[in-house]
Amino acid sequence: MHASPTRWWREAVVYTVWLRSFADGNGDGIGDLPGLTARLDALSWLGVDTLWLTPIHPSPNADFGYDVRDYLTVAPEFGTLADFDALLTEAHRRGIRVVLDLVINHTSCHHPWFEAAAPRTSPSHDWYYWRDQPNDWAAIFGGPAWAWHETAKQYYLHLFLPEQPDLNWENPAVRAALAEVARFWLDRGVDGFRFDALTVLKKAPGLPDAGPPAQPSPATAAPAPPYPAWDRFLAQPGLDVLFADFLAQSGLTRDHLTLGEANGLPAERADAWIAEPNGLVSALLHFELWHIATRRPNGAPTIDTRRFSEVCVRWWQSARAVGTLPATYLENHDLPRVVTAWADDGDPVARRRAAKAFAAALLLQAGIILLYQGQELGLPNARLTSWVQVHDRASAASIAAWRAAGWSDEQILAELSRTGRDAVRTPYPWNAHLPHGGFTRGTPWTPLDPNHLPLAWQQQYDDPESVLHWYRTLIARRRQRAALL
Ligand code: GLC
Ligand code: CA
Repeated sequence: MHASPTRWWREAVVYTVWLRSFADGNGDGIGDLPGLTARLDALSWLGVDTLWLTPIHPSPNADFGYDVRDYLTVAPEFGTLADFDALLTEAHRRGIRVVLDLVINHTSCHHPWFEAAAPRTSPSHDWYYWRDQPNDWAAIFGGPAWAWHETAKQYYLHLFLPEQPDLNWENPAVRAALAEVARFWLDRGVDGFRFDALTVLKKAPGLPDAGPPAQPSPATAAPAPPYPAWDRFLAQPGLDVLFADFLAQSGLTRDHLTLGEANGLPAERADAWIAEPNGLVSALLHFELWHIATRRPNGAPTIDTRRFSEVCVRWWQSARAVGTLPATYLENHDLPRVVTAWADDGDPVARRRAAKAFAAALLLQAGIILLYQGQELGLPNARLTSWVQVHDRASAASIAAWRAAGWSDEQILAELSRTGRDAVRTPYPWNAHLPHGGFTRGTPWTPLDPNHLPLAWQQQYDDPESVLHWYRTLIARRRQRAALL
């Protein structure tokens, strides 16, 4: 471990692992903890110092782990608690820290908390949101934000999928229960958490209707509900008070890495969250770089470089003003690959050049940097050519709408390849000369994209001019040159 634990995370390079597709240790086709542990030397060689694992808990996988059925153990397909302890030991031995994803806004509808809460007379009924009459909110993943429950004979609130009922953060028992989860993992030795969907925990008091969006012209008929209701649940006043109460019970200190997923929280309001010495989180993962894609006059994708630097500078300044540094990322498990979103990923030379340029634009910034598995290979989005590659339920509403608009299967799959989350969740290509790219010795749970094979880890490791080596060089330079930081 590093000599002093104090604020060790200020310049951390965090590598995001979507475990199901990283490395399969036992040949069942699903990436797992032993598979990751076996690859730690590759990550150590790359130079990353922290791993963020997206959820590893038992889950019915309506949203691949983000619907948690049991917070206090490991999903059987990922391994055992002993496998987790082994990962932690082996990572720490290499000076690599490990943070977990804590899904605190909602549970699975199959979590015992939800099952116990369902009867109207249950003492824990108020752990979730129930209504006889739902309001008019739309869910973030499409459709109404309320689902009927047969036992309760009531509707319950779900901002994401119906399988992800929202916990009622106004209830102190909920905050205490989640704090106990955090303590459990801190006691096991984890180095912090990424807080999923942090900015939607607090809902506007009384859950008021959102109302129809403004019409382009009075002549146009108002659409039917449900309506987008972001202003009723995103970054609401009082969110920090609820979260601070959870934190106080969680055992977390300022010397753990805590990353808050922070859709909708502007830099001007970030100070209170991140200020030294007593901020609520180490850094916020804002969404502002999600919207800087644009097109060249010839139609090719590119980025608006002026907006890119404006956003980065604004977050850097707001962090500096309160004695800390920001967090910056270009990719994660929810976003298209940068070379696909922002460059011509069909031309190998252009793609490689773009991947290197984006790497420099990212890693030469001060503060916490997050990478997503495969970014260091310059992977483009996987091409989805068959429905067996489509798993993400968050796409279902869009697919239905495209169908209704008369799109062909090919058109829908092409659009999902460009924008869908399945396109960034295919198996990691380790070695072009091994079956299934060396990801598994069995049959992968979803196919690896053959276009990823020429970009496999081993082949890039053997090529000093590769994107992989460039990432390694940049990470090493960050360490060597304090001025960069
Ligand atoms: C976050 C996660 C995303 C998940 C959603 C619901 O945005 O990053 O993958 O689907 O929360 O938990
Ligand atoms: Ca496995």
